[in-house]
Amino acid sequence: MKGVLICGGTGTRLRPLTEITNKSLLPVYDQPLIHYPLEVLVKAGIREIVIISGTEHIDQMASFLGSGDRFGCDFSYKVQERAGGIAQALGLAEEFAEGDNVCAILGDNIYFDDLSIAIKNFKTGGHIFVKEVPDAERFGVVEMKNDKVISIEEKPLKPKSKLAATGCYVYDARCFQVIRDMKPSTRGELEITEVSGWYLKEGQLKATVLQDHWIDAGTFESLHKASVLVRERKIADIQNVKNRSIVSKTSKKSSSPLAI
Ligand code: G1P
Repeated sequence: MKGVLICGGTGTRLRPLTEITNKSLLPVYDQPLIHYPLEVLVKAGIREIVIISGTEHIDQMASFLGSGDRFGCDFSYKVQERAGGIAQALGLAEEFAEGDNVCAILGDNIYFDDLSIAIKNFKTGGHIFVKEVPDAERFGVVEMKNDKVISIEEKPLKPKSKLAATGCYVYDARCFQVIRDMKPSTRGELEITEVSGWYLKEGQLKATVLQDHWIDAGTFESLHKASVLVRERKIADIQNVKNRSIVSKTSKKSSSPLAI
């Protein structure tokens, strides 16, 4: 499976910080934001990753991330000339994917669940990760019945459920044909929800409901919340390790999903 790390968009909601650097390089506690989605891919055993970014600060991105060696990965880069949507960004990875399955993840999404088993077990079709949120109308909204996806809609005025489609998508190579046939939505973008919708129509869309926190860190509030949560988890992990080493010398390794 190949990885696609999507860092498109201009980060308007995080100005003036995004005038200095790319949103993905902004700090979330002690790491740049991009480390968190990158770790999701690495943890799932994905080593070949293409980073798709807008033209803003691409030089900083490349000089920070480099060849991927530091992460045990092989990085490629692709420029998304204009903000044409997540599906358009994914479409740029077609040649890179060489017919393999892909796991696409948004560069500003932070997961506290472990997604690696679902990603590793993926065979064919589509697999998304959903999370119950209070403001589902801001996201792709997924309706489920008995663990099965029955509908998916992009930012509906009247959401049919509270389940948001989060920014991690696992698809087989047919997604690229679907994207080639797509037309821009009313907001002028190729919508990733339409790609998932295609797999749903084929009866091949699966979803995992996340239990822990998920953050789309594209605003000051969510970026701050992410830092607070990451810090809490790290401190709790350190404390747990200390406690365990007091109680027993045979304690297990920390289970933090954010340990790059
Ligand atoms: C995008 C997707 C949406 C998804 C969200 C997750 O929304 O279009 O389906 O729920 O990412 O962060 P956007 O950030 O483009 O508004």
